[in-house]
Amino acid sequence: MQLRDIQGQPVAIHREDYAPPAYWIDTVDLTFDLDPAKTRVLNRMRIRRNADASNQPLRLHGDELNLARVLVDGQGASFRIEGDQLVLENLPDAFELEVFTTCQPAKNTKLMGLFVSQDTFFTQCEAEGFRRITYFLDRPDVMASYSVLMRASKDQYPVLLSNGNLVEEGDLADGRHFAKWVDPFKKPSYLFALVAGKLVAREQRVKGRSGRDHLLQVYVRAGDLDKTEHAMNSLIRSIVWDEARFGLSLDLDRFMIVATSDFNMGAMENKGLNIFNTKYVLANQATATDADYANIESVVGHEYFHNWTGDRVTCRDWFQLSLKEGLTVFRDQEFSQDLCAEASARAVKRIEDVRVLRSVQFPEDAGPMAHPVRPDSYIEISNFYTVTIYEKGAEVVRMMQTLVGREGFAAGMKLYFERHDGQAVTCDDFAQAIADANPHSDLTRLLPQFKRWYSQAGTPRLKARGTYDAAERVYTLHFDQSCPPTPGQSNKDPFVIPVNVGLIGASGRELLATQTLVVTQAGETFDFAGVDEEPVPSILRGFSAPVVLEFDYSDEQLLTLLAHDTDPFNRWEAAQRLGLRAAMAAIDAAPGAGAPVLSNDFIEAMRRVLTDTSLDAAFKELVLTLPSETYIAEQLETVDPQRVHAVREAMRARLATALHAEWQQAFEDNRDTGAYSPDPRSAGRRALAGMALVSLCLAARESGDTVWPGKTLQRFKDAGNMTDRFNALHALVSSGHALAAQALASFHAMFKDEALVIDKWFALQAGAPDRGGDVLPLVRQLMKHPDFSIKNPNRARSVIFSYCSANPGAFHRPDAAGYVFWSDRVIELDAINPQVAARLARGLDRWSKLVEPYRGAAREAIARIAARPDLSKDTLEVVTRALQ
Ligand code: ARG
Ligand code: ZN
Repeated sequence: MQLRDIQGQPVAIHREDYAPPAYWIDTVDLTFDLDPAKTRVLNRMRIRRNADASNQPLRLHGDELNLARVLVDGQGASFRIEGDQLVLENLPDAFELEVFTTCQPAKNTKLMGLFVSQDTFFTQCEAEGFRRITYFLDRPDVMASYSVLMRASKDQYPVLLSNGNLVEEGDLADGRHFAKWVDPFKKPSYLFALVAGKLVAREQRVKGRSGRDHLLQVYVRAGDLDKTEHAMNSLIRSIVWDEARFGLSLDLDRFMIVATSDFNMGAMENKGLNIFNTKYVLANQATATDADYANIESVVGHEYFHNWTGDRVTCRDWFQLSLKEGLTVFRDQEFSQDLCAEASARAVKRIEDVRVLRSVQFPEDAGPMAHPVRPDSYIEISNFYTVTIYEKGAEVVRMMQTLVGREGFAAGMKLYFERHDGQAVTCDDFAQAIADANPHSDLTRLLPQFKRWYSQAGTPRLKARGTYDAAERVYTLHFDQSCPPTPGQSNKDPFVIPVNVGLIGASGRELLATQTLVVTQAGETFDFAGVDEEPVPSILRGFSAPVVLEFDYSDEQLLTLLAHDTDPFNRWEAAQRLGLRAAMAAIDAAPGAGAPVLSNDFIEAMRRVLTDTSLDAAFKELVLTLPSETYIAEQLETVDPQRVHAVREAMRARLATALHAEWQQAFEDNRDTGAYSPDPRSAGRRALAGMALVSLCLAARESGDTVWPGKTLQRFKDAGNMTDRFNALHALVSSGHALAAQALASFHAMFKDEALVIDKWFALQAGAPDRGGDVLPLVRQLMKHPDFSIKNPNRARSVIFSYCSANPGAFHRPDAAGYVFWSDRVIELDAINPQVAARLARGLDRWSKLVEPYRGAAREAIARIAARPDLSKDTLEVVTRALQ
C-alpha cells in the first residue's frame, strides 16, 4: 500500500480492493523502555503465512519510527524500507520476527501512537496509530495475543498499565521498575493501549450476574480524585444495563478507565484499558454542568459497550467502521433512555439526539464530505470518524430494531455474537444476523433494499400528502421519496423507510395509535379505515427514520399537534416547524419591512407550553428553543448568514419580551432544585430556569431594565452548582450586559486551576453573540491569554472551534476576516495536529450555499489552505473535497 502517488498526491483506498492479509500475526510480545525523549520498543511476533493468500512479501506499516534491528528467527535478516513500510521477502511459512525501534513520545504533538501528556505516557492507536509505536500489520483483521513488559523510572512513572491482567511487577536497578501485562483476548492493534505516570485511582469491586468478580478503576491525576464518582457510577450502570438488556457480561477481571487532558477525540475503547478525554470523566457539582454529567454517562457507556460491539467482534476493515460505531452509539442512546425513570425524559433524550443528527449530520450528508454509512473510499480514515458513521449509523440500527421489534433485535444481537465472537466482520454480517434471527420480519423480506442505507449517501426526502373520504371514513396517506445526489452518486434507489404514524382529531383526540408503515417504493399509498373525522396526521413519530419529512401542514394543524399529539417527539417537532416557518417568512420579507417576526398565534402557543403544569421543564426548554441558525440555513437554497442570524436573534428577543411574565414565573418555579443531583428531572428544571434568565436578561437589554441583570449576577455569585452558575454567567454574556465583564473575571479567578472549567470560560466568550464585529478581536485576544495553548485540543476547540464552527453570526463577516482567521488556524494546527486541523477544516463545508460576498471569500479561504505545500493528507482530503 502506497500513501502517495508519483506526484506526491495522497492515494485513495477503496473498499472493493479489500484482500485478506498475506500473513497472520498470532502473538505479540512488546517490551517498552519508556523515556519521553526516546522510548525503545522491542516487538517479538509469531507470524505465519496466510495459506489462503497469494505468496507476497511481508509489508509492515510504520510511521515516524527509527528502526534499529530486524531479526527473523533470531538471525539478522535482509529487509528494505519502502516509503513507510518495512518489507521482508523469502520468509519461512512460520517464523518469529523481532523488530527493535525507537520513537519520541515527547515530540508527538499528533497525539496518535505513544505520546506524553502532563508527564504521563498515553497511547491512541485507533485507527492507524499502532504503526507509530512499532512496525506491524496495522489493520483490524489481524488479531493477536499481546503481552507487554513496561520498564520506567519508578519515581516518575509509578503506575504502569496495559491491556488485560497484571501478571508480574517489581523493581529494577537505577530506580526503575517494571510491570508485565497479559491480555487474555486476541485483539486488533488499534485496541492496544498503555499508560505510565503518576496517577491515582478510585476503585470498586463488583460482582457480575454470574457471580464473577471484577475490579473497576478510574485513574486520574491526584487532584482530581474528587471528580471520579460519577464516572464510576456510570460504569457500574453500564455493566448492569448490558447484562439486563442484551445478556452481555463483563469478560475481564479488571476494567480500567484513565483520563488524559490531551486527546483528539472523546474516548477510546482499548480492551480493558479505556482512555478518556478528561472532559468525559471528571465531574463534581462545583465544576461540571448537567450536560457534562449526561455526556460522561453516555461516553462511559459507549466505551464500555464497545467491549462487546467492537472488541469481541470487530471490523474487518475501516470501511466497516459503523459496524462498531453506529451500533455502539445506538446502544449508548438506548442506555441513556433506559436510565430515565419517566417516559417524558426518554422523549427528551430522543429529541436531543435527533437535534444533533439534523443540525450536524444532515448538513454533512448534503455537503462535499457526504459519504455512505459504509464508505467506498477514503484518503485518511481519521476523516471518517463522522456524524454519518456514528449518528446516522445509529439511526440505521434503530430502524432495524423498529422493523423487528425490541425482542427480535435482542435475538438478532444474540445470533450476531454466536456467529462472530472473536472475528473481524462486516456491516453485511451484522444485518444478516439481525435478519436471520427474525425470519418473518419486514427487515428480512426487504434486506437487500434495506442495506441501501449502508451504500447510498444523502438524506432522503419523504413528501407526504393526505386525503380524507368522509363518506367512506377512509384517510389516505401518500408518500413520495427521493434522495438528492451526493459526490460520486447521482442517482439513488428507493430506501426502506419505517414511518411511525398516528392520527389526531381536530379536538385533540387520538383517532389512531402509532402504526409502523414501511415505505419501500418511490411512490406509495396507505389507507386507514374507520376514521371518524378528518384527522391531523402525526407522521414519523419518534423520528422513526433519518429523513426530511415534508407535509403541507396548516399552522392550525401544527398548533393542534403541538397541543395534543400523544407522541412527544412530534409535539416538539410541531413547534419546530412553526418556528422554522416564521424564520423563513422573516428571511424572505424585505429587510426592515417592519413585520413582526413572530405571529401572535405562535407566541400564544409558546405561552401555553411555558405555563402548562402537565409538561416537564426539560420538554418546555426544548420546545422554547428555536431551530438553530445552521438548521435554518440548511432549509434555504442560498444563505445570507447575517440575515439568518439577525432574524433568529429578533425572534429570540420577541419571545423574551412577549413572555416576560411567564419567564419570571418559570424562573421562580425552577430556581431552587434542592441538593444537587444530575437526574433528568432536576437537570430539566435547571435548564428551564437558565433559559428564563437568558430571556429575562435579553428583555432587560431591550427595555433598559437593570433588575434582572442584577439578580442574575447575584445568582452567579450564590450558585451551589456549576450548572446554575454557568447559566447565570451565560445570561449576562449573551445579553451583552455590562455586568458580564466582572462575572467573567471572578469566574476565571474562582476556577483558574480547573482546566475543563477554563475551557468553558474561553468557549463562552468565543461563542458569544456578535455585536458590531466584536467577537473576532476578542478571540484574537483570548489566543494571547496565558492560559491558551493551541497544542491542547480541548483548549483549541474552546476558542477556535467555538468561534469558527459554532458562532455563525460572528464568523461570517462581510469583510471575510473570520474566514482568513479560520484558514490561518487550519494551517497552524495542521503542522501540530492534523486530525484537529482537518476537523476545523470542515468549518466551511457548506460554502457553496452562501450568498456573495461570503461565497467567494469562503472559497478563497479554502483554496488558500489547499495551496499550502506539505499539508497533511487529513486536511488535504477535506479541503480538496470542499473545492470539488
Ligand atoms: N473508537 C473511539 C470511539 O469510541 C473513537 C476513536 C477515534 N480516534 C481517532 N483518532 N480517530 O468512538
Ligand atoms: Zn465508539
